[in-house]
Amino acid sequence: MRRPALLALPAVLPGCTGIQSVLRDDGAESARIGELFGIFLVVTLLFYAAVLAFLVAAWWRRRPREDSPDPKAPERDRPLSRALLVWTGAVVLALAGLTLASYLTDRASARDVPRGERMLTIEIVANQWWWDIRYRFPDSSRDVRTANELHLPAGVPAMIQLKSNDVIHSFWVPNLAGKQDLIPGRISDIALVPRRIGVFRGQCAEYCGIQHAHMALDVTVESEADFRRWLALQRRPAPAPATPLQQAGHDYVTTRECSVCHAIAGTPASGQVGPDLTHLRSRRSIAAGTYPMTRGHLYAWIADPQSAKPGSNMPVVGLDAAELHAIVAYLETLK
Ligand code: CUA
Repeated sequence: MRRPALLALPAVLPGCTGIQSVLRDDGAESARIGELFGIFLVVTLLFYAAVLAFLVAAWWRRRPREDSPDPKAPERDRPLSRALLVWTGAVVLALAGLTLASYLTDRASARDVPRGERMLTIEIVANQWWWDIRYRFPDSSRDVRTANELHLPAGVPAMIQLKSNDVIHSFWVPNLAGKQDLIPGRISDIALVPRRIGVFRGQCAEYCGIQHAHMALDVTVESEADFRRWLALQRRPAPAPATPLQQAGHDYVTTRECSVCHAIAGTPASGQVGPDLTHLRSRRSIAAGTYPMTRGHLYAWIADPQSAKPGSNMPVVGLDAAELHAIVAYLETLK
């Protein structure tokens, strides 16, 4: 890194307190991790200062050259050996203390998640390179499927089961909690208890192929009432097309290439290998955080997904202008 860039670092760091930040305590677990980070920071800073002090002392008391031995040297070195003994003891104590602090933090975060009726069950399946999300309910007809976007009610614990369809990914919403890997053939889990309303950004935190960086997750923490409203909206089937253009788009999307991979509830499109599009337009972004959700970006993404996200499974279909207009007009109704 160039020196001017390094000097600018302190000015950039406050930017880390935003929607994707390990320094925030918007969730119960991230608050605990923040406390632990503070303890580690203080202890390691103290030791760093002590090492520097020893360095300066060693330089100050450097031995005289061999041809003129100092007769007082053994006497003078005695306090230093005592200091080294104290130092070793301090290192052992500090390491034991940090280990204990980590253990206690882990136990405390486990206690932060009250299990009970209110707990939400969410299943997230990672794919190269998007998140397939299902809200599970005892009555499976009430399940909700969405993609790349998580809505959570503030103060309500959510147990998230994590699976992977291909390679190892890592679920990470730094504002709320630490990381948890998604491993093919296994089910792992992470419990989130969001404390604050807001919009956060999650990011896959394990390199999983060339589009690893384009595997983001929008997380909206809202009031319980807003969350219930969102759930009710997501349970609705897609609205029927209202104009001839939307109808043409509907007919293309639900019967041609798109429907092989994508599902839209209430239409013949029932593909399961790609993101569910039933409420696509209600989401904040396209293609797992690659583009913001706007009409222009819908055009760009559908016309040429391979230039936005090379290597993704969304192919270039080769649509003519009329088909593209119709498809975007229809997708815009999927609110
Ligand atoms: Cu998925 Cu990195």
